[in-house]
Amino acid sequence: MAAVRWMLRWVAAAAAAVAAALALDNGLARTPPMGWLHWERFLCATDCAAEPRRCISEQLFVEMADRMVADGWRDAGYEFVCIDDCWMAPTRDGQGRLQADPKRFPSGIRRLADYVHSKGLKLGIYSDVGKKTCAGFPGSYNHYDLDAQTFASWGVDLLKFDGCNSDSLDLLAEGYKRMSLALNRTGRSIVYSCEWPFYLRPVQQPNYTEIKQYCNHWRNFYDVYDSWSSIKSILDWTALHQDTIVKIAGPGGWNDPDMLVIGNFGLSRDQSVTQMAMWAIMAAPLFMSNDLRHISPEAKRLLQNREVIAINQDPLGKQGYQLFKDKKFQLWERPLSDLAYAVAVLNQQEIGGPQNFTFSLTWLGHGLACNPACSIRQVLPASRDWGVYSWLSSLSVEVNPTGTVLLTVQPVL
Ligand code: GLA
Repeated sequence: MAAVRWMLRWVAAAAAAVAAALALDNGLARTPPMGWLHWERFLCATDCAAEPRRCISEQLFVEMADRMVADGWRDAGYEFVCIDDCWMAPTRDGQGRLQADPKRFPSGIRRLADYVHSKGLKLGIYSDVGKKTCAGFPGSYNHYDLDAQTFASWGVDLLKFDGCNSDSLDLLAEGYKRMSLALNRTGRSIVYSCEWPFYLRPVQQPNYTEIKQYCNHWRNFYDVYDSWSSIKSILDWTALHQDTIVKIAGPGGWNDPDMLVIGNFGLSRDQSVTQMAMWAIMAAPLFMSNDLRHISPEAKRLLQNREVIAINQDPLGKQGYQLFKDKKFQLWERPLSDLAYAVAVLNQQEIGGPQNFTFSLTWLGHGLACNPACSIRQVLPASRDWGVYSWLSSLSVEVNPTGTVLLTVQPVL
């Protein structure tokens, strides 16, 4: 058994090395990036007179940065404060450079980046591969080098690069690649967040090997909404496409199922647990889109749960996958370092109360997760040790409707 374990460890390390070699070679996003992004919660509010607390302005990002430090978000691992669409003035400046809307960002992005850095955080910004952004602001088409240099000169640490308003699929692909190279040429470390496969997919099967050579993470599917149906659709899409997308994820390059919407209006407590647990299983970038100035202690506890974050950030960097699904339950697992596994049981039945799902531990980790025995710990909805189980035992897990029980399974010899 020791020899088998040694071999498994070796195979895992070799696979990680191969995956790393193929990833965008900027040394970034070795684990899924974590932070805050304005889009889902704040959209494109530009009228600061009418909506001073909600408009896309430097004040919004300064306040979020303040909260991220004061309320423990930074210490939990959330480090990027990210601007999405609608930060720009409607036109470029006299030298052709992008400029922030002068009314809403009177100090400019450079000063905002300095402020964010002074707090020990990093700044993300947004642009688009096409002629305009999705909300109609100037896009980066024909300006990739200039825009990359502008962002670098401002001290930006992450670029979310959207895919609206591209004239053809060739231009879309070329633009995503050119911006990646332009960012690298600036010499500044800038995480590159793409939506390339999402815009490609309706017409063409994305080449993920190529995408991973240019992007640190990439959206595959529609925008997340603040609703259970949205979370469900993202999980269903991911499970349906897992044979193509799971194997490509790893240090330096991740599938991005979009923002965490926990702490807003649309998810129940159990559904919030499901989003957090499943984003950890999927090795997803963790960008919250919520209002950190007004968030319940319960949502905060969940989003800052160290054990879930540790699963999300596991250094092996393997994305999890669905093992089983019937009318009521879904069973997912994610391989972790040291031959451990994270296991999620989701009760998708939206009628009735808590239900039990019983399964054999031999199902997990190709039969090896609990061989010859394992210690099991529940992480969500509350942390609790379940003790030691032998390989041939069954596990019965009680799960609330639309909720998830997240476990870790660690083999013991
Ligand atoms: C697209 C993206 C969203 C957001 C908006 C901004 O819809 O998928 O995440 O960036 O554009 O307009």
